[in-house]
Order: sequence, then structure tokens, then C-alpha cells
Amino acid sequence: MTLEEARNKIIFALDVHGLDDIDRWAETLAGKIGMFKVGKELFTSCGPAAVKAVQRHGGNVFLDLKYHDIPNTVANAMLEAARLGVQLANLHALGGAEMMETAVSAVHREFSGADRPRLLAVTILTSSTAVTLRQIGIEHTVQDMVVRLARLARESGMDGVVASPQEIGLIRDACGPDFLIVTPGVRPSFAAADDQKRIMTPGEAVSSGADYLVIGRPIAKAADPGHSADLITAEITESVA
Ligand code: C5P
Repeated sequence: MTLEEARNKIIFALDVHGLDDIDRWAETLAGKIGMFKVGKELFTSCGPAAVKAVQRHGGNVFLDLKYHDIPNTVANAMLEAARLGVQLANLHALGGAEMMETAVSAVHREFSGADRPRLLAVTILTSSTAVTLRQIGIEHTVQDMVVRLARLARESGMDGVVASPQEIGLIRDACGPDFLIVTPGVRPSFAAADDQKRIMTPGEAVSSGADYLVIGRPIAKAADPGHSADLITAEITESVA
């Protein structure tokens, strides 16, 4: 894998809440990573200006707002995400097939080719356990639910899923080679685990079939974040043929 291919797999989690922070990170990481993740905290604080700030620096955006609502509402929200010009956006697969299909149709009607954002589904949050599922009336294992919802997402026209490193193999087997898998919970060999529990190194995650890696603190908390991003890129190229 080339350095550029490896770099493009890295999505930096912009876990900040001000526009100034975005400018600082976009400058620090320019040319070193492939995308910036704008999540609920940053979007609630700054709104679409957060996306535009990243784009002003030439950065790509993963809008991580995990929509879950009635089909019409999610479809309209997804369409607005697409109109912001983001590259990736997501929803909760637990919203069901009709919700996903309606969102997919709305976006595909207006966008195609490289202009169309890739739509991802969250299956079961990695913070959930068998107990969490049982409490809401789901009598299946987390793994079974992850595979079931990933299949449903694929059948509903979604482009991929967000999944923990441990789920990559299962999802790849169930959904085939073209289904995107975006993986947080990745820790380079030189970084601390922080509160992430079931971790993999970037090289292991990409070798297992991840298309993109969401990485926050190993870059954000490093003494030299740009250098840390370069080390991660090197780790990916070394472990993937
Ligand atoms: O700092 P760290 O690399 O752990 O950040 C990972 C990012 O991915 C954070 O924005 C976090 O909210 C997100 N995330 C995660 N685990 C999940 C889903 C999302 O860490 N299962």
C-alpha cells in the first residue's frame, strides 16, 4: 500500500467545540490524513460552520450525527448533509429498512458519482453489551445483531457501516468486499489505550479489512500530532502488502 493510500484511510476525530480548534487542527494535519470527523458535540456547538471550516482548508468530512428518526425526517436530514458536501454521513441501522431505504433514495435522487456522500450505518454501539440489549427487549448476542443489522443496511442500499475492530471480519464475510467498514477503537503500537477496551493497531485493522480508521487521542494528545499521524501512516503501509 502506498503512503497516500494509507494516509487517506485515516479519519481524525475532531473532538473539539470551537471553530478556532478546527483551524488549528486542519493546519497541523494538512496533507497528513484523509478526513476529519465532525460529531455531535462539535456540530451542536458550531453547526454547519464546522463542516465549512474544514472544507475551507481543503479537508474532507465525515459527518457523524447518527440519525435515528421517522423515515421522512432522516431522509431530509441526510439530504441536507449531502448538500453540505460531506464525504461520509451516518444513521442508526436500528431505525429499520424503510428508514435506510428512504434516506438512500433521497440522496441518490440528487447526487451521483464522486459528489454523492457514502452513507454508513451504525449497527450496535460498542458501548452496548448483552445486558443493554436485553433491557430493551433484544434477546440476541451483540455479534448476531451486528451482523444482522449490517446485512440489513447493505440490503437497504447503504454503502457501509461503522464497526469495532473485532467485528470487521464478520461483517466482511457477511457483506462482501465492496461494503465500506469504518473502524474506531484503533490504537497505534506507540500510543496509550485511553478508555478504548477492545483495540487493534492501525495495521491490524486495515489487514482485517477496514477501509477507514477513526483516530482521535493518539494524534490529538501526542506531543507532535503531525509526527504521530505520519507514524500511523507508516504503520499501515508496513503491515499491509
Ligand atoms: O480518541 P479516540 O481515538 O478514542 O477517538 C475515537 C473517536 O471515535 C471518538 O470520536 C469516539 O467518539 C468515536 N467512537 C469510538 N468508539 C465507537 C464509536 C465511535 O471511539 N465505538
